[in-house]
Amino acid sequence: MEPLSKNKYSVYLVKTGLILLISTLLFGLAGAIEYAFPGFWRNIFSFEKIRPLHVSSAVFWILTGATGSVLYYLQEHNNEELKFKNGVKFLFYIFALTMAAILISYCFGVFGGREYWEFHPYFAIPLTIGWILFIVLYLSNFKTLKNQPVYIWMWFTGALFFLFTYLESNLWIIPYFRDNLIKDMTIQWKSYGSLVGSWNLLVYGTSIYLMDKISGNKKYSYSNMAFGLYFLGLFNLMFNWGHHIYTLPTQPYVKHIAYIVSMTELFIFGRIIYLWKSSLDTAKKFAHYNSYQFFLASDIWVFLTLGLAIIMSIPALNIYMHGTHVIVAHTMGATIGINTMLLLAFAIDITGTGHKNIKLFRQVCLISNIALFFFWISLIIAGFIKAYWQFNEPNVAYGAMIGRLKPWFHLFLLTGTLVVIGLTIIAVYLIRSNKQEVSRY
Ligand code: HEM
Repeated sequence: MEPLSKNKYSVYLVKTGLILLISTLLFGLAGAIEYAFPGFWRNIFSFEKIRPLHVSSAVFWILTGATGSVLYYLQEHNNEELKFKNGVKFLFYIFALTMAAILISYCFGVFGGREYWEFHPYFAIPLTIGWILFIVLYLSNFKTLKNQPVYIWMWFTGALFFLFTYLESNLWIIPYFRDNLIKDMTIQWKSYGSLVGSWNLLVYGTSIYLMDKISGNKKYSYSNMAFGLYFLGLFNLMFNWGHHIYTLPTQPYVKHIAYIVSMTELFIFGRIIYLWKSSLDTAKKFAHYNSYQFFLASDIWVFLTLGLAIIMSIPALNIYMHGTHVIVAHTMGATIGINTMLLLAFAIDITGTGHKNIKLFRQVCLISNIALFFFWISLIIAGFIKAYWQFNEPNVAYGAMIGRLKPWFHLFLLTGTLVVIGLTIIAVYLIRSNKQEVSRY
């Protein structure tokens, strides 16, 4: 069968994501240096600038990587070229230019937004226009929702809900919401939980697409387990905010239902990857070996994240962990270990690096993940030490407690540096790779 020519702007979106990944890693490293040697960048960049540069780059990496991969695979799924090609081109420009402008504006000290989206609210306009365009592109490129595999539903729902919750996360701009503290915080944390749930639907949907592509059948995308995951994901993005507002006065059952659902979702997703990898034969594994390794890594991180989430859900411990590095470990464990590993698996397939330079990919993937494990552990231990101090050692001065954290911050920096080197090598390799066509399957 004649191969399709690739949609180059969907690939550019993925590559823009990889550039943003490098930016995430470098600003993360700058932040880790500040942890280990406070005041290191005092005269150049404050932590107040480094943190938004790092966190916004991370969110943008996930968003551009996910939207680019969805559009690329939508073309493969349809087995015909994308309609409305200029729309994809416009989407690429609007996302790439707005995100670059946001990062530059941070360097000049222009802020004005809220955590994770600390940019000036004006930038929300082009981002929203871009997202609406993504939905229009998606809707104009499939005919029916009848008898569609689960990933089509996941992409469709994730794209719509992201728009809704992104707008919701901007409601604080209106005084009616901003002037009531409880209302404002509840909406903010509710929308953040749902935003993550929405991009997870895009990422999980794409994972199921790619797993089926590698196995050469549609076993998982029509399976009951995958549709179960879809409905849990949908429920989760509507209600998982419960566990983000532990400190606010709401009913406990809201939090507990939310927690159980988000953990069940992770468990099912981990199980799908586990079953898929045991069902693959050697030839299929080899043809997509590099993507396969990143799927494997993400599966381990699903279960590690689940383990930490279970510990964090114990109410007595949850109270302790608020505002400590355990929360940072949880967020980074999920966004690096699960989201980033999966997005790299997609980028490897999209850039055509599936079975190239296997030795390099195997070594880098292994070293980065071992380093990531100790990076994560160092944050958890630092978090526990701080939590213990907060509740049990009122007589110990803050400076003395920070002194105890020092060895763990040094381990965080050392292992973080290895993660930066490893993932940067992969990102640069993928940015430089170029597959000419999309194979039909
Ligand atoms: C793909 C790679 C990465 C992603 C997606 C990522 C994501 C994030 C996210 C979402 C946060 C906010 C956490 C929170 O507020 O709970 C964060 C914070 C942070 N990350 Fe990363 N990160 C990555 C890699 C790294 C690396 C390699 C380092 C260090 C070398 C690093 C250092 C930091 C630091 C210092 C913070 C600030 C924590 C604080 O505010 O106290 N990150 N990261």
